Amino acid sequence: MSSHKVSLMFFISLIITSLKAMAALAGNFYQDFDIMFGDQHLKILEEGKLVTLSLDKVSGAGFQSKNGYIFGRFDVQMKMPPGNSAGTVTTFYLSSSGPNHDEIDLEFLGNSTGEPYTLHTNVYAQGQGSKEQQFHLWFDPTKDFHTYTVVWNSKRIIFLVDGSPIRVFNNLESLRLPFPKNQSMKIYATFWNADDWATQGGRVKTDWSHAPFSASYRNFNINACLGSQGSPSSSCSTSTNSSAWQNQGLNAAGRNRLRWLQRKFMVYDYCTDRPKFPKGLPRECKHSRV
Ligand SMILES: *[C@@H]1O[C@H](CO)[C@@H](O)[C@H](O)[C@H]1NC(C)=O
Ligand SMILES: *[C@@H]1O[C@H](CO)[C@@H](O)[C@H](O)[C@H]1NC(C)=O
Ligand SMILES: *[C@@H]1O[C@H](CO)[C@@H](O)[C@H](O)[C@H]1NC(C)=O
Repeated sequence: MSSHKVSLMFFISLIITSLKAMAALAGNFYQDFDIMFGDQHLKILEEGKLVTLSLDKVSGAGFQSKNGYIFGRFDVQMKMPPGNSAGTVTTFYLSSSGPNHDEIDLEFLGNSTGEPYTLHTNVYAQGQGSKEQQFHLWFDPTKDFHTYTVVWNSKRIIFLVDGSPIRVFNNLESLRLPFPKNQSMKIYATFWNADDWATQGGRVKTDWSHAPFSASYRNFNINACLGSQGSPSSSCSTSTNSSAWQNQGLNAAGRNRLRWLQRKFMVYDYCTDRPKFPKGLPRECKHSRV
């Protein structure tokens, strides 16, 4: 074989390898997800593009991705239950399994009619959590679908709402702080009752006369590297240009937008919660978080 042919074949096999490693999915429920719990409380509509979860006294519902991922960009459009949704929690999160787990959370805490939803975010790195930031939203999340995004690369995690960054969690391994990067995570979406803590600290209970509650998810978009649970991130070593998320950070405009949104809409930041950390705030709090 001529060296020309060999390099051509090498090139083709490289392309095939990258295609296998990169999953770019315009999510289809049947293809990408399994039901986790709730069976008849989960409805799959529009040929797998729309999923509704319902919650009553008997059960909520949830689903999870078939695959685990190591790094990626995960977009989903969600619509929260309207009216008196106090006590309900609608989630979209990534999590590894097993001990010392990693997790990236978006949880939408319902409220009494007319009171704002709270978007609760958290990160667990090798089992260490307690890194909560909470936000009110600048729109009513029950009226329309809005896009919620997690960008997770080796340098940082970015939470976005309708494309605007609300939180950045940086990789500070250089300071020996753990960062999620050696465990693959699955995508989860759940809808459940958490009236022991969710709304105004558990003071407002779920009013079951409004049940069943309903939350909707559509247009999952997964641009990520596949990884089996617990395996190293070798499948991410291929590079492709279709994945701006791999190096995504914030430019000056993005940093300004983040600061402005945090100033206006952040309602809780663990980094200012001194009573919670009597021995001193977590070390990452001292470092720039944009
Ligand atoms: C990888 O993850 C495990 C948790 O399963 C953790 O205990 C370990 O310290 C991590 N290793 C590195 C090199 O980050
Ligand atoms: C519910 O509304 C109250 C009053 O406006 C607000 O303080 C709270 O953050 C809202 N969200 C939750 C989950 O309690
Ligand atoms: C790769 O992506 C960058 C940024 O999106 C773009 O400017 C560049 O032209 C792309 N390169 C190729 C070879 O497509």
